[in-house]
Amino acid sequence: MQHFLSIADFSSDDLWNFLHKAKSLKDEFKAGGNQPILKDKILGMVFQKPSLRTRVSFEVGMLHLGGNAIYISPNEIQLGSRESVPDVARVLSGYVDGIMARVFSHEHMLELAQYSEVPIINGLSDYNHPCQAMTDIFTIWEHFGKVEGLKIAYVGDGNNMANSLMTVALKLGAHFSIASPEGYTLPPEVLEAGHQLAAEQELMLTESEDPTEAVLDADVVYTDVWTSMGQEAESARRLEVFPPYQVNSELLTKAKPTAVVLHCLPAHRGEEITDEVADGPQSLLFQEAENRLHAQKGILALLLAG
Ligand code: CP
Ligand code: NVA
Repeated sequence: MQHFLSIADFSSDDLWNFLHKAKSLKDEFKAGGNQPILKDKILGMVFQKPSLRTRVSFEVGMLHLGGNAIYISPNEIQLGSRESVPDVARVLSGYVDGIMARVFSHEHMLELAQYSEVPIINGLSDYNHPCQAMTDIFTIWEHFGKVEGLKIAYVGDGNNMANSLMTVALKLGAHFSIASPEGYTLPPEVLEAGHQLAAEQELMLTESEDPTEAVLDADVVYTDVWTSMGQEAESARRLEVFPPYQVNSELLTKAKPTAVVLHCLPAHRGEEITDEVADGPQSLLFQEAENRLHAQKGILALLLAG
């Protein structure tokens, strides 16, 4: 049994297996093919936080593959308060074939995996967001026809999204640069692991406080909200610190003319990204959002089939 908790747990070959599976399922689906490879399988979807994309794309993905999905809202389980995390994992394991979970604390994700008898898929924690990062690299691969040698620039908060994006980029041979305000970059152990990956493959990993430096000659410019779910109490402070990190038309001129813009969504338009960029010709935001469905079908197929 295999879980999908973190990009760092997988080799580049494993990651490419997921991506190739996703691509063949997407192509087959677009050609009108029937895909009952998860017939009679049921995915339990545990949410401690709100969601549009994760909830709907996982549910639709299971339906496309002939299975079913059950949404379990934040109030129902009250993970860790009404019932302990190990007990939730053990109980759900008796009902469903896989569990997709969105939690506040990454420790709870690891604990679910420790006690579950079925695969756990990480649908976001405070630490990382691997399904989104797989989607992003899938979208980049789809657009450029390659990943190796591209420069991916991330501008903004060194959050869960930045962690997973950096890791998948470096695992698959892309250069990565990140610009964040002082005190808001990636955690030191994440950066250290990143530098090790970069050194092994002779890739560039650069961190700075200067968004212009980060996006210089980039192929991909990525941003995410300044205040993530669970950090709402810090929102006023963050609104003071982050405005120089807005992805706007002027910043985008520093990237390659062929650069594309990604954002995991939901976007706070007018904060980390302007309407002009989000809706502009270089934006792949909605292709990226659709690809959550296809990328995750690849993950579901490899984890739950058989
Ligand atoms: N990108 C993403 O995970 O979106 P949701 O929070 O809507 O699921
Ligand atoms: N960093 C954001 C991503 C949302 C999909 C958050 O955690 O709220």
